Amino acid sequence: MPEWRAYAQAIQDAAFVPDELRLIEAAGLTVDLSAQVTSPAVQTAGIDLLSARGFERARAALLAGEHVNRTEDRAAWHTMLRAPDPIEQVARERQRVREFVQQADAGGRWKAVIHIGIGGSDWGVRLLADACGGKQTRRTLRYVANIDGHALEDAILGMDAASTLIVVTSKSFTTTETLANLRRAIRWLEQAGIEAPCDQVVAITARPTAARALGIPAHQIFEFWDWVGGRYSLWSAVGLPVAMAVGLDVIDGVRAGAAAMDHHFAHAPIAENAPAQLALAGIANRSVLGYGSLSIAAYDARLQFLAPYLQQLDMESLGKSVDMAGRPVTVPTGAAVWGMPGTDGQHTFFQWLHQGTDGAAVDFIMCREADHQWVEEHAMLLANCLAQRQTLLQGTSFDADLAAMLAQGMPAEKAAWLARHRKHRGGRPSTLFVLPRLTPYALGALLALYEHKIFVQALVWGINPFDQWGVEAGKQMASGILEELHGAPQSAAHDLSTQHWISILAEKR
Ligand code: F6P
Repeated sequence: MPEWRAYAQAIQDAAFVPDELRLIEAAGLTVDLSAQVTSPAVQTAGIDLLSARGFERARAALLAGEHVNRTEDRAAWHTMLRAPDPIEQVARERQRVREFVQQADAGGRWKAVIHIGIGGSDWGVRLLADACGGKQTRRTLRYVANIDGHALEDAILGMDAASTLIVVTSKSFTTTETLANLRRAIRWLEQAGIEAPCDQVVAITARPTAARALGIPAHQIFEFWDWVGGRYSLWSAVGLPVAMAVGLDVIDGVRAGAAAMDHHFAHAPIAENAPAQLALAGIANRSVLGYGSLSIAAYDARLQFLAPYLQQLDMESLGKSVDMAGRPVTVPTGAAVWGMPGTDGQHTFFQWLHQGTDGAAVDFIMCREADHQWVEEHAMLLANCLAQRQTLLQGTSFDADLAAMLAQGMPAEKAAWLARHRKHRGGRPSTLFVLPRLTPYALGALLALYEHKIFVQALVWGINPFDQWGVEAGKQMASGILEELHGAPQSAAHDLSTQHWISILAEKR
């Protein structure tokens, strides 16, 4: 595409000397793109590229609930889940969740919740409850995702079965791990003498009949729909366990923040459109400048689940190698996403970010105000965030380092040798996201910003961000191997090593 070539060329031609402050205000957040490669030519080429890719039309189709998920012939209408005036079925389920939580609160029912779910039916709940809980936590919330028996064992440890509500979330209600953990949780209730264990189970799913078939009472089944992607589902009834643990105002708040970001995305011109500009910067870093990964550095300890949440959102959406027509893509698409809260990450992998051969693009997230009394510590946190970002951008000066060591009386040869080891090359791109405070509203706006960024990147790369065909083959293989571990004849298709281990492991079962 000529527009693609022009954009890629403009990026390569652009000198990475940030000489302008590029701040975009969106839904109460400030997005600082000053440490991203840009130039007037890049700006113009970016707008031309999005127009050539049909940005306006695609955005309208997404927000209108058209079947943008073409390989599954579905809408991806997560924006409707947080719309201030949603369609009837959304409003109905929202009200049912509200009433369920209010009744439980009013009746002082349930001291604890065990949430069973995996992937998109798990990370959002962990992220919200952890980020917005703290002092307002009113019920213990434990999570079970992994099929590993230790996960449920840890979750039920010390729990009183009679006052524990099991909440199972599964869009498909077919996920092996989730159903196995649910069965064991029900057995735990039975073994604790609970006569009607399913009366202590709530299901959140797009397959209510499957939940009903398991004996879960209809009034404890909350629905979302196949036009909601699992990794885009936290805005739906999936938020119920969060509301049980930390309050309805948290799920109301995140929806309101996300709806505000939807409004910005829908109306802001491309040059001032935070998701669109973030998408273009990310494409430049990945497909032109060759950064294979994006590191998420959230400078707030309460955001420990942000990186895994974004890993699924981004990598399950953009980890695609064929375009909408099924042709192999011609440029690198979705990057590897990873990360850890700042400042922990600084003492874990920032050495690699600063001096490694590859480096990565980095998203720094910070909150201007903290919700604790330790003012100085918060200033230190913010100082570290800004310092790491500037060092990645500007690097360090060999001469300045050398001069400093010589001034300390170090022999010239040793100083020159060490100065080469200490040198930071710099020129490493990053974005800074500034939240006024870590409120549900701000977090909702941030997550919606990432959702829309990912949508725009998929549009430019020509891939479908809403399917995940790549997760199926391994699951099917696992169910076959499980039968073989239980004595079924081995499939001839196994590689040598898999054959070896199945025969060894099967003996013990
Ligand atoms: O295997 C991947 C996946 O399908 C994700 O897309 C999804 O979020 C997760 O598994 C859980 O699926 P479900 O909500 O249907 O149990």
